Amino acid sequence: MSYQRDFERRIRIGLVGAGKHAYRNLLPALHYLPVTLTAICDLDLERAQSAAREYGVKGVYQKTSEMYANEELDAVLLCVSPQAHPELACEAFEAGLHVWMEKPPATRAYQVRAMIEKRRDRVCVVGFKKVFMPSARKVVEIMSDPKYGPVQNMLGIYPGGPVPADGEQTLRDQVPNDWLANGVHPVSMMLGVGGPVAAVTMHRGRRSGSVCVLEFENGCIGTLHIATGAAASQPAERYLFVGRGCHVEIENSLRLTFQRGIPYRYGVTTNYISEGFDHGAIVWEPQNHLSTLENKSLFTQGIYGELKYFCDCVLEERKPELGTLEFAYDVMRVYEAGLLSDAQRVELAAIE
Ligand SMILES: NC(=O)c1ccc[n+]([C@@H]2O[C@H](COP(=O)([O-])OP(=O)(O)OC[C@H]3O[C@@H](n4cnc5c(N)ncnc54)[C@H](O)[C@@H]3O)[C@@H](O)[C@H]2O)c1
Repeated sequence: MSYQRDFERRIRIGLVGAGKHAYRNLLPALHYLPVTLTAICDLDLERAQSAAREYGVKGVYQKTSEMYANEELDAVLLCVSPQAHPELACEAFEAGLHVWMEKPPATRAYQVRAMIEKRRDRVCVVGFKKVFMPSARKVVEIMSDPKYGPVQNMLGIYPGGPVPADGEQTLRDQVPNDWLANGVHPVSMMLGVGGPVAAVTMHRGRRSGSVCVLEFENGCIGTLHIATGAAASQPAERYLFVGRGCHVEIENSLRLTFQRGIPYRYGVTTNYISEGFDHGAIVWEPQNHLSTLENKSLFTQGIYGELKYFCDCVLEERKPELGTLEFAYDVMRVYEAGLLSDAQRVELAAIE
């Protein structure tokens, strides 16, 4: 089923934070999910009221505690800020609710550990949307196939902002910065394919841009190139994942190219197009001439995927394996190590 009206079983949700992202992306995504939007809460009551009017929602609140006391909810979606998510998530767990929260989950890794302690049997998924992109799921499938994987090394290019120079102060004072706000996107993408990271080395360019070397626990190595200064309005993001005798590229989140190679001898092979259909590239790309679902950004960027996965886990009483708090902890530790590195190799175990 693809539309809210078709689902027989739905979970009752409250939305906390009806700001820009929730209004632009989360509320429209609910149209495709097994949910009943029961209440909206925002410190800015007018904002909550106007969204509630638009979506025909009766419960409107300024305080989460009042929403939990008055409404019969199964779950909340938190879309507030990394500063507020840990406390809001713990409060929701206390109220017996399942929690989906936007990235970043926190400003410090230890705050994620605190959420893990409070979670008990509740379902909790962090919205690392890139992990849920159809193109990312395909890379994981390819690299899980013994014929092609495991992943050996990888490259990410992401048009992010500067990595703060004073990492210790940034961590101590929990200063908002783009390495946290947006850096978690490519970091989650790379960890989603490569697994947990053992060591991080961050080089900050003297002009702009940074290069972050990720050494994965399983021996894979990766480079994240933060292309500060690239035009945010034009595609710059891309990933290359190298397997065994093959590689996979994701361009602009959409176009996935799986290079399987051809029968080849250096200086001898005369034709790059080999016979048959078992060699060469497979390319997936959404068509953009039909007004359907699979080509819409809510679907291609993983926003639908992250929310549908959460709803399914709640409905099926299943423990999530993607976007977990444990995964969020791994992402946050890379964030912290990147801040502390200053061109030195930082082993994550050393900053426990
Ligand atoms: N995944 C993505 O692509 C993506 C894109 C943009 C933003 N985000 C994330 O979404 C979150 C929200 O970002 P935004 O741009 O919508 O911010 P925003 O400031 O527009 O919205 C946040 C809202 O939360 C409300 N709020 C703050 N404290 C609250 C509380 N204690 N209880 C209830 N409401 C409270 C604010 O009044 C505001 O309306 C952030 O974590 C951000 O990183 C994700």
